This record gives sequence, C-alpha cells and structure tokens, in this order.
Amino acid sequence: MDLSTVLLTGALWVSAASCAITPRNFSLSLAPASPISQRHVPQFVSYSFEPAFWTEFFGEPSAPRNLTFTLLNHLHERGARPIIRTGGITMDSMTFDQNQKLSAVRTENGKGGIYRTTIGPAFYEQWDNFPQGTTFVSTLNFGNNSVSIARGLAVASYERQRDKIAYYELGNEPTNYPTSRWQKSTAAYVAQWRNFTSQIDKSVDGDSHGKWWASSATTDVTGLKVRPSDLIPAGINSTGEVGQYSIHSYAFATCDPAREQLATITNILNHTDLARYADQEIYPSAKAALDAGAQWVIGEFNSIACSGKPNVSDTFAQALWTVDVELLYAVRNATSVHLHQGATLAFQSNQQLNTPGDDGTPGFSSYSLLYPIATSKRGEARVLPVFVSQLLVVEALSDGARIAALKTPDGMPADEFAAYAVFGKGGQRVAKLVILNLRARYAGQKNSPGSLSLDIGAHQGATVKRMTAPSVDELDAAKVTWAGQSFRNGAAVGAVSVETLGAGERVSVKDSEAILVTFA
Ligand SMILES: *[C@@H]1O[C@H](CO)[C@@H](O)[C@H](O)[C@H]1NC(C)=O
Ligand SMILES: *[C@@H]1O[C@H](CO)[C@@H](O)[C@H](O)[C@H]1NC(C)=O
Ligand SMILES: *[C@@H]1O[C@H](CO)[C@@H](O)[C@H](O)[C@H]1NC(C)=O
Ligand SMILES: *[C@@H]1O[C@H](CO)[C@@H](O)[C@H](O)[C@H]1NC(C)=O
Ligand SMILES: *[C@@H]1O[C@H](CO)[C@@H](O)[C@H](O)[C@H]1NC(C)=O
Ligand SMILES: *[C@@H]1O[C@H](CO)[C@@H](O)[C@H](O)[C@H]1NC(C)=O
Ligand SMILES: *[C@@H]1O[C@H](CO)[C@@H](O)[C@H](O)[C@H]1NC(C)=O
Ligand SMILES: *[C@@H]1O[C@H](CO)[C@@H](O)[C@H](O)[C@H]1NC(C)=O
Repeated sequence: MDLSTVLLTGALWVSAASCAITPRNFSLSLAPASPISQRHVPQFVSYSFEPAFWTEFFGEPSAPRNLTFTLLNHLHERGARPIIRTGGITMDSMTFDQNQKLSAVRTENGKGGIYRTTIGPAFYEQWDNFPQGTTFVSTLNFGNNSVSIARGLAVASYERQRDKIAYYELGNEPTNYPTSRWQKSTAAYVAQWRNFTSQIDKSVDGDSHGKWWASSATTDVTGLKVRPSDLIPAGINSTGEVGQYSIHSYAFATCDPAREQLATITNILNHTDLARYADQEIYPSAKAALDAGAQWVIGEFNSIACSGKPNVSDTFAQALWTVDVELLYAVRNATSVHLHQGATLAFQSNQQLNTPGDDGTPGFSSYSLLYPIATSKRGEARVLPVFVSQLLVVEALSDGARIAALKTPDGMPADEFAAYAVFGKGGQRVAKLVILNLRARYAGQKNSPGSLSLDIGAHQGATVKRMTAPSVDELDAAKVTWAGQSFRNGAAVGAVSVETLGAGERVSVKDSEAILVTFA
C-alpha cells in the first residue's frame, strides 16, 4: 500500500465516522432572558497596550509596525473605532523625557524586570499613524508618588495630541500597590487621587477635568477597597473629575501554580463560570456606576492574568472566550472593553509560569492578538487565533446595536452554550443572533466532531457567518477562519463565505464554533 492509499483510506474512515454522528437537536427561544442593553458605540471593542512594549507593537513614527496597524484597519473598515489605552503595570513607572528620540525605552535588570519605561515625544507623535478617528487614554504614573512625573506625562500628551485624548488615567491597579501607600484606607486613596488630579487639571488648561477614569482596580481580594462600587460612595467624583469608571477583569491566572492548574481550555470556556464572575465580581461596580448615571468600562482585561498560558490562550479557545466575555459585558452595559496586549513582566509575580525571553526580547503574552515581532520565546511575528473574535463582535454590535442574553435550550448543559440576540436601530425586532457552542473538540479526538442543530423559528433568507477552526486547541491562525477568511499574516486570505438558510431552516453549530446569524 503506498502513502496516497493510506491517506485516502484515512480520509474515508473520518468522513464515514462523521456521517454516523447525529446532531443534537434543540430549539432556541429568541425571547430575551436578560434586560436589553444600552445602544453600543463603535468604541465598544477597544484595547489596552502595555506601554513598555509600545515600540514592539507599533514601531516608530517613521516605521510603523505594519502587522499591528493592518489588524486595526480590519476593524475600522467594519465601522469600529477602538480607543487605545496605553496602559498596564508599566505605566506606573513611566516617565517622559522630551530629549529622548525613541518612542519607549525600558530600563531593566538582567532578567527582564522593568524598573522604568521612558517615553519621548515620538510616543505621542505615533498616534497620528493610527486609523483616522482613533482616540486614546493618556495614562499617568501614580506608582512613583510624584505629581511632577504624572504631570510631565499629562502635559506631554496634551501639548501634542489634545484632540485625540478621550480620557486620562492616573495609576494602574491601585489594589496591587504596597500597603504602606494608603494603609488600606479608601479615604486616603481618594484624597490623594483628588489631590493629584486637581493639580494636573491646572497644567492642561482644565482638559482633564471630567475626563478622568476612576478606579482601575482589579477584582483581587486586597486590603484596599477601591473598586468603583467602593469609590463612588466614598465621593471620588465629588468635585466632578470623573468621566468613566474603569475596572479590570481577569478570572484566571498563571501567576502561581495553584491558579495555573485551573487555567485550562475547559475552564475558560465554562459559560456558567464566566457569567458568575461577571455577575459577582464586576456587575456590582457596573451597577453602582449605572445607578449614578455614569458610564463604566472594562479598562483592561484578558483571559488569564500574568500573560496567559501557552496552549490555552494562544489557541482557538481564546477566540471563543473573547466573544463570550465581550458579549457578557455588552449585555451588562459596559461602554467599552479594552482587551490587554503585552508581554511577561518579571516583577508581577516570582511564582509565575511565563518568563521574558532569555536574550532580552519580550516574552509576549500568549493572549495577545498578535506577536508583533520575531522573538526567541514566541517565534516569528504572526497573528494568533483570537483575532477573528474581534471581527465577529464588531460585526455583531455595529450600528448602535442593543443586545440581550438568550436562555440555554432545555436539556442542554448551560456550561457549554451561550447565545445572544442583537436588536438593531429599529427597536424590538431581533436583527442578529450570536450562538456559541463551547463544547471542546480537541485535535486528535477519536470520535468525530459533534454539532448542534438549532431551530431558530420562522425566518426567510437569514445568513450565517462562522468563526471556526479544526479544533478548539488549534494554534495556527492560518487554519482559523471568520466567514471563510483567515488572517495569519494580517491580510485576509480566502474568499468571504456566507451561508444562506432556507425558509425556517435549522442552523448547525459544530462543537467549538461560533456563528453570527443575520435575519433578512
Ligand atoms: C435532528 O434532526 C435531524 C434533521 O434536522 C435528524 O436527521 C436527526 O436524526 C435529529 N437528531 C436527533 C438526535 O433527534
Ligand atoms: C442596561 O441599560 C438599559 C438601558 O439602556 C437598561 O434597561 C438595562 O436594565 C441595563 N442592563 C443592566 C444589566 O444593567
Ligand atoms: C519610580 O519608581 C520605581 C519603582 O519604585 C523606581 O525603580 C524608579 O526609579 C522610579 N523612577 C523615578 C524617575 O523616580
Ligand atoms: C496636595 O497634597 C499636598 C501634600 O499633602 C498639599 O501640600 C497640597 O496642598 C495638596 N493640594 C491640593 C490641591 O489638595
Ligand atoms: C461627575 O460629576 C460631574 C459633576 O457633577 C458630572 O457631570 C459627571 O457626570 C460625573 N461623572 C460621573 C462618571 O458620574
Ligand atoms: C462550570 O462553572 C460552574 C460555576 O462556577 C460550576 O458549578 C461547574 O461545576 C463548572 N462546570 C464544569 C464542567 O467544570
Ligand atoms: C504545547 O503543546 C504541544 C503539543 O501540542 C507541546 O509540544 C508543547 O510543549 C506545549 N507547550 C507548552 C508551553 O506547554
Ligand atoms: C502592510 O501589510 C498589508 C497587508 O498584509 C500589505 O498589503 C501592505 O503592502 C503592507 N505594507 C507595508 C508597508 O509593508
């Protein structure tokens, strides 16, 4: 038997086996099972980029990093207008030096620990290379406890890019600061935050007044209580400084071995647990903001804190996770959600799984949309499987959409399914559906892929776009597609593929796949 016969026999065996699998049949009710959200803005899908790695992601003004800008352009072409937060842990040791030629320079110890990130005018000048309509969060260092360092950054951004600054932010994750700073006192934190912000307002002609993000806390259990739900009653906005409330969302982590054990594909795709985290940890702060008539944002989030977990957050599972979590927060009225991009920070934890590259290059976070340059740790520059999730969410929420959760069909395990109805400008009619089949289908699994067959009621000429991959643990973005197209090197590869359903036809969703249905 020659090799081609072996392959052919293998292929026949697989296809015969898949025919033998009958789909699991359910009917999906389109009646909202949650309140219908606010109308979403084109800024909903937004980003946070760790400033220490700014040059790796964006290049210099005269040599922009094409791969990153190509991805942003795909979103702009679809109507999205992401806000870029130049934020993360390293903003809290960032300083501005007007004589520095390069955008961002890290001062490190020999092992990739970052003491300081010095940015020059080019950091702000690079904002002009972003697609037209992009706005930014000007992030200021609170970590050094120095009004002059924070003011230096505010003034540098204001002088160069005042029209592009949507918000200002003072400090990242105050929940992680040394206890000595505010002795676990919310009031002491609020007093110092107001002291700094009021002084900085004066240096930028009042531009920051009413444009501050407040809180930027994590949901870690810490002695200092400064989530929005703590700061609002503590009077953080008593002088009208706050523009929006920001909270950070990381339900999983590889910061220590105990939590690393829990950061599995099955756990990050447990819809029941993702909804539990959103409701228990995030929603009380969201509600406090909404009740005060204020907007709230997820100022920084990703699946697995401490830079992700290889073979989990760099797989197609991360795309399914991102769609579900962004839509959970869309239902709960987040105004924007800033997916974090960065690299391993050696000082974040001395027990973490990830490390920086041995040769001093970054150990890029495996939850990022892309590895923007070649490194010893992550290999060649390329887009990761998660990217397609951004196209799905942008297309689902375009044009002022409102969204509600749908009920898991009776008889189906709630852990492995999520569905959302999207309402268009017109009001009460369901215009689109997002359906996620989160049951894991791994590469090399003996039994062939299962699928759901869903009755979505009467309809005529509905269309379907699929976000799919050969398996949930697929690592190669060339094999991960949105509506038939893949994006491994930035450019779309392949023809757009849109299915049209016959009148009243059921829709099928394979295990580990998501679809966007658009009604005619
Ligand atoms: C599901 O419905 C299809 C037709 O749409 C049918 O062929 C199949 O046998 C049904 N499967 C089950 C498990 O009822
Ligand atoms: C979201 O806002 C809408 C109003 O735009 C409101 O009706 C709904 O209850 C809010 N949802 C949540 C979960 O707070
Ligand atoms: C800011 O604080 C960091 C960490 O505490 C320290 O290493 C750095 O030297 C400080 N930077 C300046 C400019 O004082
Ligand atoms: C800020 O705090 C400093 C040090 O406690 C104090 O001297 C200053 O008056 C305060 N400024 C404002 C505007 O509150
Ligand atoms: C903060 O207070 C000002 C003045 O009362 C108000 O205009 C603004 O909407 C408030 N901001 C938030 C986020 O509630
Ligand atoms: C999914 O998460 C829920 C809520 O945290 C938990 O009760 C359930 O056991 C989890 N399911 C699996 C399969 O681990
Ligand atoms: C990821 O999984 C592959 C097998 O699919 C294995 O060879 C590799 O060592 C794993 N990488 C890590 C970092 O666990
Ligand atoms: C940037 O990437 C796009 C898409 O891959 C390509 O069409 C374009 O030629 C590239 N531009 C430069 C300057 O390399």
